[in-house]
Amino acid sequence: MSLQYRSLFPVLWLLVLGSSRIQGQKNEDSNEFTENSSELLDLEHNSLAPQCPKKCACSPEGIVDCGGFSLKEFPIDIPEQTNHLSLQNNQIEEIFPEELARLSKLETLNLQNNRLTSKGLPEEIFDQLENLNYLYLANNQLTGAPKFLPRTLISADFAANNLTRIYDLTFGQKPNLRSVYLHNNKLEDPGLPENMFNGSDNVEVLIMSSNFLKYVPKNLPRALYKLHLKNNKLEKIPKGAFSELLGLRELYLQNNKLTNEGMDNETFWKLSSMEYLDLSSNNLSHIPSGLPRNIVLLHLEKNAIKSIGKDVLTQIKNLEYLLLHNNKLKARGIHPQAFQGLKKLHTVHLYNNQLEKIPSGLPRRVKTLMILHNQISEISRNDFATTYFMEELNLSYNKIISSQIHREAFRKLRLLKSLDISGNNLQTMPYGFPKNLLSLKLKVNEISSIPKGTLSGMSKLQELYMTDSLPFALFLQTLDMADNQLTSIPYDLPESLEYLYLQNNRITTVPEDAFESTPNIKGIYLRFNKIAFNAVKESTFQKLKHLQVLDIEGNFEFSDPWKNVDHSEEDMEEEEEEEEQELEEK
Ligand SMILES: *[C@@H]1O[C@H](CO)[C@@H](O)[C@H](O)[C@H]1NC(C)=O
Ligand SMILES: *[C@@H]1O[C@H](CO)[C@@H](O)[C@H](O)[C@H]1NC(C)=O
Ligand SMILES: *[C@@H]1O[C@H](CO)[C@@H](O)[C@H](O)[C@H]1NC(C)=O
Ligand SMILES: *[C@@H]1O[C@H](CO)[C@@H](O)[C@H](O)[C@H]1NC(C)=O
Ligand SMILES: *[C@@H]1O[C@H](CO)[C@@H](O)[C@H](O)[C@H]1NC(C)=O
Ligand SMILES: *[C@@H]1O[C@H](CO)[C@@H](O)[C@H](O)[C@H]1NC(C)=O
Repeated sequence: MSLQYRSLFPVLWLLVLGSSRIQGQKNEDSNEFTENSSELLDLEHNSLAPQCPKKCACSPEGIVDCGGFSLKEFPIDIPEQTNHLSLQNNQIEEIFPEELARLSKLETLNLQNNRLTSKGLPEEIFDQLENLNYLYLANNQLTGAPKFLPRTLISADFAANNLTRIYDLTFGQKPNLRSVYLHNNKLEDPGLPENMFNGSDNVEVLIMSSNFLKYVPKNLPRALYKLHLKNNKLEKIPKGAFSELLGLRELYLQNNKLTNEGMDNETFWKLSSMEYLDLSSNNLSHIPSGLPRNIVLLHLEKNAIKSIGKDVLTQIKNLEYLLLHNNKLKARGIHPQAFQGLKKLHTVHLYNNQLEKIPSGLPRRVKTLMILHNQISEISRNDFATTYFMEELNLSYNKIISSQIHREAFRKLRLLKSLDISGNNLQTMPYGFPKNLLSLKLKVNEISSIPKGTLSGMSKLQELYMTDSLPFALFLQTLDMADNQLTSIPYDLPESLEYLYLQNNRITTVPEDAFESTPNIKGIYLRFNKIAFNAVKESTFQKLKHLQVLDIEGNFEFSDPWKNVDHSEEDMEEEEEEEEQELEEK
C-alpha cells in the first residue's frame, strides 16, 4: 500500500484545482461545432475559384465562406461543387429549396446564427443533400425541426431555437449520426416522437438541456456516452429509461423536479460506465439507492436530503467526490457505516446542512472535508480519530465554543494543512491544533486570550488569520506566536496588546507601520528571526511610549533549527491497520 498525498502545495491553489475539476465540464453552449473552422478563415476573398458569390471566399477544394456579412438572402451563385458552405452570422430569414438542391455535394452546411424560421426552411429542403454530414442551425428561430434530414448526417446542432417539435425522420434512420444538440429550445414531451432515434444506433452525445421535458425520453440510443438533460421539468425517470445505456459516462439531470418517487432502485443500476452523475438542484429527500459502482463524481447538492442510509453509497467503490452541500442533513440521519469501504473518496462537501455534530464514520481517506455553515457546537475526542489523511478541514461558521473542543480532538490529523474555524464562538484559543498546519484561520470569533502554548510548536505555520475577530481586538493583551514559521508580523494587531512574542519565526522585515495599531505595547520579542539590519527602522518603535523590552537579537546568524519532522508513512499505515483490526474485532 502506498500513501499518496500532495504535500506543501499552497492551500488555495489546491482548492481552486479541486473545484475546477469538479466543475470542469465544458460549457455545453459552446460545443466544438460552433467554432469557426480554421480552414474557412484562412481563405482569401474571391481568390482562386472561378465563380464565387460576392463578398464570399471560395477555395478550389470546394470551401465557400460567406460568414458574417449581414447577408439577408441566401447567395444564388454558390458553385455546384461546394462541399463546405458557411453562412453563419448573417441575417438570412429564408432559403428556397431549389437553391440548396443544386448543392448536392455539400458535406457541411453552417447556417448558425441567422434568422431562419421554420417557414423559411421548407420541408423538402434537405431532400437532395445526399452527402450532408454536418448541419449547424443553432441560434435561429426555428419552431419545428425539419421533418427529414439526410441519412448521411453525423452531427446536427439545433441549439437555441424555439423548437417545439421533432419528427420521426429528423434524427431517425441515420446510422452515422453521432451527436445531436438541442439545448435551449422549447421542447415538451408530446413534441418528441415515440422513438426519436429509431435506426440511429450510434448517437453518442445528446444534449437536451434547457427545454421543458417532464420525462426522460424513451428509447435512447444505446451508444450514448454523454446525456445532458439539465434545466428541464423532469419529474420522473420512467422504468428502464437508462437500462440499456451501458456506455453512458456522463449524465446531467440537475435543476429538475426529480423526487425519490420519480425513480427506483434500478433506475441507475445498469449504468456501469457512469463516472459523472449530477442530480443537484432537484427535490430528493434521500440518496437514491442502486447507484452504480464506477461513479467518480456524484453531485447531490441542493436537494432536500435528510438522511444517508447504510447501503446507498457503499457500493460506489470508485467514488472520489461526494457533494452533499445545501441539504437537510442532521448528524443522526447519517448512518455510521454510510461511508464504509469508500477508499477513494477524498472530497466531501457537507456545508449548509443541519449537522449538530461531526457525523460519525467519516470516510477514512477523506482529504478535504467542507463542513462549514452547520450547527456544530462541539468537537469530541474521537470525531476525527480515523481520518488520518485529512489535509483540509473547514469548520467555519458553526457554533463551536472553545471549551467544547476536546484537547485531543485533532491528535490524528498529522497531515492536516489547512484548518478553518472562523465564524464560531471561540473565546480563547483552543489547545491541541495539529502541529503540521500551514494555514490556520480563526477570523470572526471572540478570542480574547491566547493561553501560552496554544500556538507554539506549529513549526510549519505560514498563515494565521485572526482579523475581524472584533472582541479579540478589544481585549487581547498577550499574543504568543513564538516558534512558528511566520514570515511577517501579523497585521491589525489589537490596540489592547501589551506583549507580543514572535521569537523563533522566519520574519524578514518589520514594516514601519507594524505597531501603529498597538500604542500600548510593552514588550516585543523578535529574537531568532531572519530580519536583516536594514529592514528595521528606529522610527518604527519611537512612538511606542510604553515599550520596555525590544528583543531583536539573533537575527543575523540565522540557521535553520527546524528540521521538518514528518511522521513517516509506515507509522501512519501501521496505525491505520491497527485501528482497522480493532474495528474488525468489534
Ligand atoms: C467567427 O467568424 C465571425 C465572422 O467572421 C467572427 O465575427 C467571429 O469572431 C468568429 N468567431 C470565432 C470564435 O472565431
Ligand atoms: C422565440 O422565443 C423567443 C423567446 O421566447 C421570442 O422572443 C421569439 O419571438 C420567438 N421566436 C419565434 C420565431 O417564435
Ligand atoms: C423503427 O423503424 C423501423 C424501420 O426500420 C420501423 O419498422 C419501426 O416501426 C420503427 N419503430 C418505431 C417505434 O417508430
Ligand atoms: C430493488 O428492490 C427490489 C425490491 O426491494 C429488490 O428485489 C431488487 O433486488 C433491488 N434491486 C437492486 C438493484 O438493488
Ligand atoms: C418537493 O417534494 C415535496 C414532497 O416530497 C413537495 O411537498 C414539495 O412541494 C416539493 N418541492 C418542490 C420545490 O418541488
Ligand atoms: C472555509 O469556508 C469559508 C466560507 O466559504 C471560506 O471563506 C474559507 O476560505 C474556507 N477556508 C479555507 C481554508 O479554504
